[in-house]
Amino acid sequence: MKRLFVANWKMNKTRAETREFLSRFYELAADFASNASVTVCPPFTALDCASAFLGAQSNVRFDLGAQNIHWEGNGAFTGDISGAMLLDFGVKSVIVGHSERYQYFGETPGNVSRRAAAALKIGVRPIICVGEKREDFEAGRSKDVVLHQLQESLEQIPEIADGSIVIAYEPVWAIGTGLAATPEIAEGMHRAIRTVLCERFGKTGGESVAILYGGSVTPENIASYIAQPNVNGALVGGASLVAEKFAALVQGGSN
Ligand code: PGA
Repeated sequence: MKRLFVANWKMNKTRAETREFLSRFYELAADFASNASVTVCPPFTALDCASAFLGAQSNVRFDLGAQNIHWEGNGAFTGDISGAMLLDFGVKSVIVGHSERYQYFGETPGNVSRRAAAALKIGVRPIICVGEKREDFEAGRSKDVVLHQLQESLEQIPEIADGSIVIAYEPVWAIGTGLAATPEIAEGMHRAIRTVLCERFGKTGGESVAILYGGSVTPENIASYIAQPNVNGALVGGASLVAEKFAALVQGGSN
């Protein structure tokens, strides 16, 4: 399986800033190892210019993702974005169920599952996020919480094709805090997630799913995560905002 590195820009970057990042990152990406697969997820408002920029280059070594998707194809959903709109920009992947959506926007695992199913239906790869809060971690119930959230998030997905979904384990207490989970904690959770995926989608299906770790990943610590057998890449926030930094992270994780 290729190693997957996903840049989650969250609510950052105007179009001009997006173009600036991409032109630098495009140059740096020419040196990426062949086992590295890279996705950049700008905010919706920058997808058009990102797509135009990438369309004008040759041998682009990364693709475009988005940060959310509505489960309906169109309709009266003020402020929302459909899969068809994402496809318009050549989006290949979409993050669903990020913990910030739960924390600030009332996200639920049931709706995450509908979003993921809607993405799969149109050939966009959902990156389904799961993760426990600090109080769950401290109470020693991380696995119960995360595996339950995972089952609920997969409810609308009866089957998968190889590699058609991605899971990102992001402990909420590790996001943007500098308090990354240890590689051992990440591996323990990823192994448990893998077991659930294999039970649900069969051994071949379950083993085809990339499981990413997210939460304060940096160019300095990426190698320690990637060394774990069930960590197949990373979902990166803060360290993905500067082209040189994110390129160093991709390289550190794919050497
Ligand atoms: P962080 O964010 O890398 O800034 O911790 C990760 C994420 O929220 O996806």
